[in-house]
Amino acid sequence: MTLRTRFTERFGIDHPIVSAPMDLVSTAELATAVSRAGGLGLLGGGYGDEEWLSRELAAAAGTRVGCGFITWSIDARLIDTALSHEPAVIFLSFGDAGPYVEQIHRAGVPLVCQVHDLAQVEEALRIGADAVCVQGGEAGGHGKGTRSTFTLVPEAADLIAARRPEVLLLAAGGIADGRSLAAALVLGADAVVAGTRFWATRQAAVTRAAHARAVAITGDATRRTGVYDIVRGKDWPPVYTGRVVANDFVVRWHGHETELVEHLDAARAEFSHAVDADDVDLANMIVGEAVGQVHAIEDAGDVVRTMAAQAEDILTGGPLQRRPGAWSGSGSHP
Ligand SMILES: Cc1cc2nc3c(=O)[nH]c(=O)nc-3n(C[C@H](O)[C@H](O)[C@H](O)COP(=O)(O)O)c2cc1C
Repeated sequence: MTLRTRFTERFGIDHPIVSAPMDLVSTAELATAVSRAGGLGLLGGGYGDEEWLSRELAAAAGTRVGCGFITWSIDARLIDTALSHEPAVIFLSFGDAGPYVEQIHRAGVPLVCQVHDLAQVEEALRIGADAVCVQGGEAGGHGKGTRSTFTLVPEAADLIAARRPEVLLLAAGGIADGRSLAAALVLGADAVVAGTRFWATRQAAVTRAAHARAVAITGDATRRTGVYDIVRGKDWPPVYTGRVVANDFVVRWHGHETELVEHLDAARAEFSHAVDADDVDLANMIVGEAVGQVHAIEDAGDVVRTMAAQAEDILTGGPLQRRPGAWSGSGSHP
């Protein structure tokens, strides 16, 4: 028995679960593990490192995966590189996807636009997106942070049903187990996009120290901030902030961005030393509130299968009752 949705039908997959295109974290190893388990894996093309992209696309050859980019940071050449490998989807977030719609559709590839509020849903429908992924502010990584998944998904579902019912709806932000997958489907999503939960798997390109810290903290431990964009020299449009672990670096500089800019050289040296040393008190750990539901670093394929099985059980298994976390034997708090 599997959960069938318009998304699983349209993409010919077993489970309505997509792994997020996390910049450099979502490698071919992660994306193919998710696709082989019956979900849809996405490569994290992020800011557009051509060498990384070509390598990971080649490594994923033979397994159907999609590819995501940070729209304001890329150009048509990168999209062409991805399209030449016949991706399952192109997934664009943060910025105007309009200039790429024709290029992507000409190649016969569906476009998913990740957006953060209803005005952006309308814009995605206007430019001709085939699917819209609405991201609530509890999500890991960048977003507007102005809406929550629980209210944004049903509102977006109603809007899409009224305007362009053939467009698929994906939900992102805080979805980490079968309970939240089931909830998102009930709220009107055709599938979910999970980032943090797949970040916390053995196939993700994440360091040992970051994984160890993730298992030890709760959902209280994250904060939206722009301090890592300043120190990394990433020129994000001001409406976007990123959700990260509120470690010593964030506590020191968040709210003191002017001073951070004044001390940028020293802060950069400290930051890059911390990255090299895998010091997660100072280096950025990009995760969402769902980190509180991570109790073990597991196999990405097992995450897909367990999440799907638990959602199926909830949605088809008789009277609703409170269920523990999904993870075998590790549902309690650490
Ligand atoms: C480590 C990390 C990196 C991310 N990088 C990107 C990215 O490069 N492009 C993108 O569209 N979204 C990125 N995201 C956001 C995801 O697409 C997605 O919206 C989010 O992970 C969903 O919320 P969740 O983390 O609670 O599952 C990233 C998320 C994380 C956790």
